[in-house]
This record gives sequence, C-alpha cells and structure tokens, in this order.
Amino acid sequence: MNQSTSLITKAWNYMKDHQEHVTADPYRLHYHLMAPVGLLNDPNGFVFFQGRYHLFFQWNPFETNHGKKFWGHYISDDLIHWKLTTPALAPDQWYDKDGCYSGSAIVNDDKLYIFYTGNVKNKHGDRESYQCLAISKDGHHFYKEGPIIHLPDGYTPHFRDPKVFYKNNSWYMVVGAQTQNLESAVVLYASKDLRQWTFQGKLAGSADFGTEGLGYMWECPDLFELGDSDILIISPQGLEPNGYYFNNIYQAGYLSGSVDYASVSYEHGEFNELDRGFDFYAPQTTEASDGRRLLIAWMGNAEDGETQHPTAKYDWVHALTVPRTLEYKDGKIRQHPIEELTKLRTSDCSHLHVTLKDEEKKLKYPYDNTFELQLSIEEWSASRFQIMFGTTTFTYDETTRTCTLERMRFDQKGIEKRHCHLSALSHIQVYKDTSSVEVFLNKGEETFSARIFDKANEGHITFRTEGHIAFKAHQWKLKT
Ligand code: FRU
Repeated sequence: MNQSTSLITKAWNYMKDHQEHVTADPYRLHYHLMAPVGLLNDPNGFVFFQGRYHLFFQWNPFETNHGKKFWGHYISDDLIHWKLTTPALAPDQWYDKDGCYSGSAIVNDDKLYIFYTGNVKNKHGDRESYQCLAISKDGHHFYKEGPIIHLPDGYTPHFRDPKVFYKNNSWYMVVGAQTQNLESAVVLYASKDLRQWTFQGKLAGSADFGTEGLGYMWECPDLFELGDSDILIISPQGLEPNGYYFNNIYQAGYLSGSVDYASVSYEHGEFNELDRGFDFYAPQTTEASDGRRLLIAWMGNAEDGETQHPTAKYDWVHALTVPRTLEYKDGKIRQHPIEELTKLRTSDCSHLHVTLKDEEKKLKYPYDNTFELQLSIEEWSASRFQIMFGTTTFTYDETTRTCTLERMRFDQKGIEKRHCHLSALSHIQVYKDTSSVEVFLNKGEETFSARIFDKANEGHITFRTEGHIAFKAHQWKLKT
C-alpha cells in the first residue's frame, strides 16, 4: 500500500509558502533542529543509513498545536548540518488517519525500516492504536506495509512508540503501554523477520515501584546497553512533583539494571531524570557509525501552552536539543554535547583567567545570543556563584549544594526556576542559541535544557560570586 503523495506534497508546499514568515522570527535557532513550520515534538527514527544520519520528528505542519502528526525528515552527513527533506509519513491510511505517532528506525538488508504507532480516533471517539511498518530503499520514499501489531489483551489503547533493536540474534521491540489497571508499563516483543512479532510480556512497569508506582503511562521507551548496564529510557506521565524533582508536566529519565530476555524480566534501580531543566522530553537514542550512543530529545514538553510560545505568531513552535553522547559512569548516565559541535566554533573567541572575590565581572563579549561558554573551576572557597545572561541565571549554592536555573516565564509574568543537587561544581559548559540554553555540569553529570525568550544583545555575560573563586573561561561565538 503506497502512501498518497498528495498529503505529503500539501505539507511540503505549505512549508515552502510559510518559509519567509517563519524564518523572519528572530527567535529561530541557528544550530538546533526546529519545526520548519507548525509544531514539532518527539525525535523519531534516529538512524545511520547508507552513510548518513536520518532523524525524523513528530510534525503537525499546519498548526502550532498537536494534531494529526506526520513524520518530518532531516538528513545529515556530520550530525551538525542538517537538510530538511520531504516528510516520510503522512496520516493518510485507516490505521494512522489521526497521526503517524512516534517510533524508531533500523537498517536491514540495506533498507530502512520504520516502526511507528498508527493513532486512530474511531467513530465513537475512542482511541485505537496500531504498531505499523513502513520501508524505504532510498531513505526518501516510504512504502507503508500497515499494522504489524494489534493491541494485546490486558492493555488500554495507550500503547505506542515502538523502539526496535537487534540483540542475541533476534529483533526486539519495546512499546510504551498502560495496563487495564491503568498502570504504566513497557512491553517486549520479539521477531525473526521484522514482520511477525510475538508478545513476550511486560518488561517493567509502575508496579515495580511499590505502592507509589511511577505514573499512569510510559511514553517513548528506549532500551540499550551502555557500559555494563541495560538502560531503559522512559517518559512517564502522571508523576507528582517531589521537592526539586518532577516539576515539569511530564518527566523523562531512565532505569539501569539487567534484562533477562529469556524470562522477560528486568532487575533495575530507581528512576532518574535525565535533565533538570524545563524543556526536555521523549528522548531517543541511536548507535552512531563509530559506536557512540547518541541521544537527542524534544526541547519542549507536552501541554505547556504552545500558544504562549512567542514563536507561535511566526507559525512555528518547538525544537530539539543538540545531539549528546551518552556515557555510563559510577552508576549514572552522563551526557556530553557531541564532539562535532566544536566545529561550530569561530575564531571569534575569548579565553580568560578570572579571579573573583565577593564581586561581579562582566565578560566583554559582543553577546549576540549564540555562543558556547566553558568554565573550568580552579579554586573554590565561595558560598555562591552565579552566571547571568539576558534573563537567564544559573546559580550554584555551596551551602545547600544546589544548582538553580532561572528563566523568564513565557508569559513574561515573572521568573521560574528548576533545581538539582550537586555535591561540588568543577566544570560548566553552556550552549546558547538565540531562544535556547543547554547547560552541562561537571562534564555531563547534570544537564539543564530550556527555551528562553529574551532579547538579543542584552549586553554581557555576568559572573558574580560570594566568596573567592578562580576559573578559566572560554567563550566562542558559534557559526550561525
Ligand atoms: C510523546 C508523545 C508520544 C506520541 C507522540 C504524538 O510526546 O505523546 O507518546 O507517540 O508524542 O505526537
């Protein structure tokens, strides 16, 4: 069953017709992937195929809110320069008519296989979901084979986001699910030929977390080996805020442990959030051509009032994070901005040795909202250290061993904050790109990702300290 090209062409033409308006927005990012028009959410189908990286994304081209999703499509040779190409999937069949929802891609027999969820609202207004397959020989045109998995007994239609991988001579798929008791879960399927899939059972779920549980639905699961651990990334819905943690509407994080595929069981520890900022959800990983485990996430979050995004008036909302390399160290995932990003540095840079004692220093730099900043701390006997640019403030409070990121609310009605604990601060790396910021602390021990809508050229980067601190600072203007 081939896709009707008319809907794909309609989306593509709509994008072209709106390009001038969208790109006039001063909040467009320079080195992040964004909605070309309309709304973008999850990264999908991140894969290396025939010498290039393909990255698909949940896309509602026609509106800046959620709706009938397409799979938008970016391609790259080097993970930093991306080219938008025609959408891979349009919601045009009975089994995906209300959205080609999230999923993954693998390469088999030199063909690209994509697995996604067909989202359907039936005539009674109820949700149906089908796990579907589409195949491409050239990486551009996709042939839909239709549903390969129907809803199993014991689960509600909140059953979606298939992630496929190869392990122990078999194909496996994890799917985000909700049991009929309204508990979140991840289920496992196995296949020899990628078309016939057998249900293996529930691999993990809310019930593993005692009476408190862990939400009512786990979206976008991703299972892979990292270091000596089996990591399961999940995006749970329904967690209550817990002090500094779980303060976004939905969370994204991981479990680590050991999977026994034969008995379909997973011994794992606690749930850890992957990012401490405001905008990070539905991350997806892939294995790079050189074996690195790469992660990219939606730099947004569900139901956070898309209409309030200042970019909506330019007919686009949302972006993805920079790609990150994952490392598993001391029982914890660390995220590093991919090395390739150093190619974005220009010769327009400053390298300083700074010593501060109860004072403020402004970095004399023609701050244009797009830069990379790195600080290596050499001496520390301070109770507080702050970095400020535009309306963003990052604070490390030594007395409580707390990091805080502050930003102006999107509706401009005051400041909002996110926090995390960190036992000491030794290194800070900041990627600023017009309306986004990503902060990596202690070489990826913690990260904060956020969209920031402040004015360009607001002056300086200011460092402020209470107590004594000495550090090396490097700042680069990045290619735009
Ligand atoms: C996560 C999610 C997925 C779903 C997709 C729809 O953000 O809700 O579970 O497949 O977005 O766009």
